[in-house]
Amino acid sequence: MVRKNFLVGIDVGTSEVRVGLGEPRPDGTINIIGLGLSPSDGVRKGVIVDLDKTVESIVSAVEEAERMAGIKIDSAYVALKGLNIELINNRGVVAVTAEDREIHEDDLERVMQAARVVALPMDREIVDIIPREFIVDGFDGIRDPVGMLGVRLEVDAQIVTSLITSLHNLLRCVNRSGININGLVLQAMANSEISLSPDEKDLGVFLIDIGSGTTEIAFFQQGKLQKLAVFPIGGDHITTDLAAGLRINYYAAEDLKKEYGSAQPSLAESEPKIEIKTVGSNELRLVSERELSSFIEPRVEEIFQIIREEMVKMGWTYLPPAGVVLRGGVASMKGIVEVARLVLESDQVRTADFNLGGIKNPVYSTVVGLLYYVQQHQPRMHVQERGKQAKKDGPGLWQRIKDWLADIID
Ligand SMILES: Nc1ncnc2c1ncn2[C@@H]1O[C@H](COP(=O)(O)OP(=O)(O)OP(=O)(O)O)[C@@H](O)[C@H]1O
Ligand SMILES: [Mg+2]
Repeated sequence: MVRKNFLVGIDVGTSEVRVGLGEPRPDGTINIIGLGLSPSDGVRKGVIVDLDKTVESIVSAVEEAERMAGIKIDSAYVALKGLNIELINNRGVVAVTAEDREIHEDDLERVMQAARVVALPMDREIVDIIPREFIVDGFDGIRDPVGMLGVRLEVDAQIVTSLITSLHNLLRCVNRSGININGLVLQAMANSEISLSPDEKDLGVFLIDIGSGTTEIAFFQQGKLQKLAVFPIGGDHITTDLAAGLRINYYAAEDLKKEYGSAQPSLAESEPKIEIKTVGSNELRLVSERELSSFIEPRVEEIFQIIREEMVKMGWTYLPPAGVVLRGGVASMKGIVEVARLVLESDQVRTADFNLGGIKNPVYSTVVGLLYYVQQHQPRMHVQERGKQAKKDGPGLWQRIKDWLADIID
C-alpha cells in the first residue's frame, strides 16, 4: 500500500507512459523516489487508440517505479492533455442565506454549483471548475469571501470541459491497470508549475509543449491559465520526414534525429560523417548533420507557423511581455530556439530549464511537474456524471476552492 504521504503521478504521452513517485518534503520540494517509463504503443497523436496496449504500458511503467521505490502503488494523479479540452468562463450568482449576511462555506458550494450551469453539447462533460475570483455585492477581486458580509455572492469561474470519449478512455486505462485515480491535473498547469516563474505567469507568457504526437499551446496571464490549444503535430512528424527523406526506417531516423538533429541548417556541421543504411540496400552512406537538418527544418518551421496562427487566434499578433517558453521532447533539439525566434519574429523565446530534486531527464518533466502541482494545490478533480452532485469525499469543496485559488490568484 502507498503510505498517505507519497504522491504518484502518471503521464500517458504519445511516445511513452511515465510514472513518478515522490515524498513531499516540508520545504515544499519533493523527494522523487520512484520513476518508471514504458513505450506507449496504444497512443497516437495524444489519443488512446488501443486500450489493451495502453494498459500494458501503464502497468509496466508503474511496476518500474514500484521496483525503484520498493513501494506498491495503488492510486495516482493523472495528467490531462489539452487535447479535446475547452475552457469556458462562466459566472454563478447566489443570495447569501444567513440572516446576519455572513458568507459561509455552503454559500460557496452553492455559488460554485451555480457556475456549473452551462449549456454543454452531449459529447462533453465538466472535469472541473476553477474559481478565478469572487464578487461580493459588486466588489470584485475577492479571493476568500468566507466571513465577509454581503447579500449577493458571485463567482467568476473557469469551467474545464473534456470530450467524454477521450477522457473516459484515459480513466478506463488507468483503472484497468489497477490504479485508483486521485484526481486529474491539466498538463498545462503541471508544466507551468515547474517551467514558469510567477512573474512570467503574471505578465503574459506562452508555454509551448512540443511532444511526439501533439503540440500544446497554453497562454498564462494575470497568474492564470487563459487559453489552451492543441494540434496533432510533433516530433513524430519530424522523424517520419527524416525517414522518408533519407530512405531509412523510422527507428533509425528517430535515433539520428535525437543524436545529430538540428532545426537550423546553418548551425549544423557540413562534413558528411554520419553512417546510414538506406532501406533495401546493404551499403552504408555518409551524410552530414546539415543534410539531416535540411529534412528537419521545414517541419519545425511549419510547427512554429501553426503555433503563430494559434497565437493570433488567441488575440496575439505580437508576443506577450514574457514571450515564449518551449518544453517537451522536441524543445531539446539543437537550433529550435533560433527557428522559433525567426518564425515568431521575436527574441523573447527560451527553453524551459528542468532540474528538480536531482532529476534532470526532461522526459519526466510533466510527471514531476504534476507532483509539484499536487503538493501545492491538492486538486481533486472528480469527474461527475451529468446531473449528479459533486462527491464530497476528500477535501471539501471549500478546501478545493482555496487550493485552486492559491494557484489561480497567487
Ligand atoms: N534531443 C532531441 N532532439 C530532437 N527531438 C527529441 C529529442 N529528445 C526527444 N525528442 C523528441 O521529442 C518527442 C517526445 O517528446 P515528449 O516526450 O515530450 O512527447 P510525449 O509526451 O510522449 O508526446 P505527446 O505529449 O505528444 O503525447 C519525440 O518525437 C522525440 O523524438
Ligand atoms: Mg507530453
